[in-house]
Amino acid sequence: VFHHVVQAPEDPILGVTVAYNKDPSPVKLNLGVGAYRTEEGKPLVLNVVRKAEQLLVKDSSRVKEYLPIVGLADFNKLSAKLILGADSPAIRENRVTTVQCLSGTGSLRVGGEFLARHYHQHTIYIPAPTWGNHPKVFGLAGLSVKTYRYYDPATRGLDFQGLVEDLRSAPSGAIVLLHACAHNPTGVDPTSQQWEQIRQLIRSKALLPFFDSAYQGFATGNLDSDAQSVRMFVADGGECLVAQSYAKNMGLYGERVGALSIVCGNADVAGRVESQLKLVIRPMYSNPPIHGASIVGTILKDSSLSQEWTIELKAMADRIISMRHQLLDALHARGTPGDWSHIIKQIGMFTFTGLNSEQVAFMTKEYHIYMTSDGRISMAGLSTKTVPHLADAIHAAVTK
Ligand code: LMR
Repeated sequence: VFHHVVQAPEDPILGVTVAYNKDPSPVKLNLGVGAYRTEEGKPLVLNVVRKAEQLLVKDSSRVKEYLPIVGLADFNKLSAKLILGADSPAIRENRVTTVQCLSGTGSLRVGGEFLARHYHQHTIYIPAPTWGNHPKVFGLAGLSVKTYRYYDPATRGLDFQGLVEDLRSAPSGAIVLLHACAHNPTGVDPTSQQWEQIRQLIRSKALLPFFDSAYQGFATGNLDSDAQSVRMFVADGGECLVAQSYAKNMGLYGERVGALSIVCGNADVAGRVESQLKLVIRPMYSNPPIHGASIVGTILKDSSLSQEWTIELKAMADRIISMRHQLLDALHARGTPGDWSHIIKQIGMFTFTGLNSEQVAFMTKEYHIYMTSDGRISMAGLSTKTVPHLADAIHAAVTK
């Protein structure tokens, strides 16, 4: 009965790892997926995560019962505080509902499904370009996906005028997906003045902001600074949605731990919204897993573990910044044609190199360097040892 099923293509991001794993070359380099690697090219489990896990193992009162549909209560409270700020008036006024979800993707999907059922506007505007999963997540949630201009290839920076024009002509009430910081894939964020203009425009048109916060701590190395865009929108008293992921900033990729917060008009509404979120979650995966959220909760509720986390997070962010400088220097040393200064101007995990899909294919074939075909490099996958190899490959690709 399944003879008609055709082979589906690999995922444009996760498929890069599949191809990388098949390559026997000893010099192969995976700069596809946004996952942190050490200088030795190894995945990193943060010390603070190991510590939290040891505390959890020692606690014999812990059981493996189902969590509530909305997840671990402590985790939800602490996650809302982390993104909205400990002194957030919206939290104080009990008008935020937070539910534990399966990392960023799951949070976006639950939010999307809720909006498709309960929000009057079904059009969501996502930036062009954006994370490849966004259009799929929201399309399958039942929303109609449109794009707004975001990146200008000519300047390798923000197309602010295009963004403003597109949001200005969006229908009133439309949903707008915003990357809270460290935009994926471009590494280009609005300045705080531009954020303020975006906020005014969104509020004046009664658009509904939906933040994707997958990189809190990776843009500046500071958790509070990286949450400024979201906090700006919450400070004006209006509504918004926020999807959080702990994949990158706590290195909990495979634990699938994240949260969806919906900031509502008042506590009453927040309670009813939460009751509907439960109806979205229960038939989808019943209730979320306990382990990852317990790790996050253990760290966030202990000030000394939290402090340790911020130090380790900053070290990851700093190593990526150092990779940016090393790569730029290596290209300069080779006299590679073109202006590569965007490598150090862009922020977060990625550099949007400007290399085209043909050049990327050449680098993969000749140099065994794996990256997404849009020219995005995960800087977190680079090390001092591998920078020369990448620089050689880029140089060859642009001079061939
Ligand atoms: C990425 O963009 O590489 C990450 O967000 C991983 C993923 O799930 O795509």
